[in-house]
Amino acid sequence: MNLKDLYIDFFVSKGHRQIPSAPVVPENDPSVLFNTAGMQPLIPYLMGEIHPYGTRLVDYQKCIRTNDLDSIGDTTHHTFFEMLGNWSLGDYFKDESIEFSFEFLTKILNIPVSRFAVTVFAGNEKIPFDEVSYNKWLSLGISESRIIKTVEDNFWIAGETGPCGGDTEIFYFRSEDMIPEVFDSEDDRWVEIWNNVFMEYYKDSEGNVSKLSKKNVDTGMGVERVTAILEGVNDNYLSSVWIDVINKICDISGLSYEDNLKSMRIIADHIRTSVFISADKSGIKPSNTDQGYILRRLIRRMIRHIKILGIDINSDWERELALLIIDKYKDYYNELEENKQIVLDVLKNEKVKFNKTLEKGLREFEKSVINGNSVSGEVAFHLYDTYGFPIELTVELANERGLGVDENGFYEMFKKHQELSRTASAGKFKGGLQSDGIMETKYHTATHLLNAALKVVVGEEVHQKGSNITSERMRFDFSCDHKLTEEEKTKAEELVNKWINEGLIVSKTQMSKEEAINSGAECMFIDKYPDIVSVYCIGDVSKELCGGPHVSNTNELGHFHIVKEESSSAGVRRIKAVLSDE
Ligand code: SER
Repeated sequence: MNLKDLYIDFFVSKGHRQIPSAPVVPENDPSVLFNTAGMQPLIPYLMGEIHPYGTRLVDYQKCIRTNDLDSIGDTTHHTFFEMLGNWSLGDYFKDESIEFSFEFLTKILNIPVSRFAVTVFAGNEKIPFDEVSYNKWLSLGISESRIIKTVEDNFWIAGETGPCGGDTEIFYFRSEDMIPEVFDSEDDRWVEIWNNVFMEYYKDSEGNVSKLSKKNVDTGMGVERVTAILEGVNDNYLSSVWIDVINKICDISGLSYEDNLKSMRIIADHIRTSVFISADKSGIKPSNTDQGYILRRLIRRMIRHIKILGIDINSDWERELALLIIDKYKDYYNELEENKQIVLDVLKNEKVKFNKTLEKGLREFEKSVINGNSVSGEVAFHLYDTYGFPIELTVELANERGLGVDENGFYEMFKKHQELSRTASAGKFKGGLQSDGIMETKYHTATHLLNAALKVVVGEEVHQKGSNITSERMRFDFSCDHKLTEEEKTKAEELVNKWINEGLIVSKTQMSKEEAINSGAECMFIDKYPDIVSVYCIGDVSKELCGGPHVSNTNELGHFHIVKEESSSAGVRRIKAVLSDE
């Protein structure tokens, strides 16, 4: 049995219920591009909302982190990874959580206790030393010399604000060397394998820490790292998670892994992430903004490394690799098989598109560095704009020649051309987690009102096709076969403002998906939701399936104003709107 199955079975035997992996694109959190940790889709429940599956949950979650793309190519970093997690939502706490982890590691994975060391929260002026965890580890046979107390490394929060708490991290001695008696977390033979966070606090944007209504446990363990450890390899790509992909790249290229480590690792990593993004129910396609841009960057960078290996770009390499990944993961993630054709088309189309300009772009790049100077912002922008070279690709090319790129200059040009979306420039590429702010919450409610208003003004056939929210504005895509007239726009705006002024109550009810649909609730992607869903009603004007968050009364929204109405794609219109205080 593999690690994922062992993990799920173990926690199910301890009374946990398995929850499905959420899509890689968060459904109700516009502040991040991708889920970066297993706890992310569970934030509302860590904050106190009742989870329909109970108080003990377990899963494996698809995660994507793109903040250190440069590190991809080493032995341990991956843009996509699977995180194993178990949660207690106000159920068990430190003692049981540590017992579960210890039992799983020593009895199920059969790792000897002598290979472990742990860290615990040392305490600061706001939160006391975690004596319970410390004593628990001692009682389980971890000696004092293998327990380190820290402050910084033992407090976990996703981003700046949100549910958080002290944690205890479990380390494994990954080396043939004699295991030192005293644990040194700076010695990289000790690797962290599991993080148990005791989430009992909430940190707000002012830095104040308050107690959550319940004491929760959130744990996370990376599949790739632990698999490599269990299989005794020091390079993750030599573990069973990757080795077949690497072998396939060797077959296709006729080259050896040892001589082409970096390119082969990048290709293996990027093809897997690209497959998972394009198979996601969110329907992401390569583009120049947000998730679509990440997908584009990954595919294009991979293509360049395919070229470095001398593989014929026009051959079916991407298909062969994608089918291998799909086959490998399809039993765990149904969407891979369901969206197989979409994945293959996305990869092929992007390949064909980029291949048209790649050669010329590379020649242009070579010309620009002939004098040995760094690449200017203008050149980097020209490579982006004319030849479709993502900035990271230009940086990588330059770095390989020991040259730099004026990235600030590039971004300035970019802004001038207004091509960098606000979200991208606001740092969402960093992939970190920020919690929903007050403005985002207001805009969230405003999208429901606008959706309802358009149904009245344009017709019942209007349905939401997408939305994008920042703290400064909302964008709302909806099905409609014509450009809205001035009259329709004004009417929709007036109606939303009328509902805002009426101070309608926003209420939330949980019900089965079937019940929700029968009740006529509006829903964008029905199959993305679990069996039990939340339905938000705004007075009697709107009823939608949604994960929230929302304001509690429409009078909190201020004044609603449509800034722009334009075409989004065939049969889909886009409205940009803002809320102001007036
Ligand atoms: N949220 C914690 C982490 O990502 C534990 O799951 O490490």
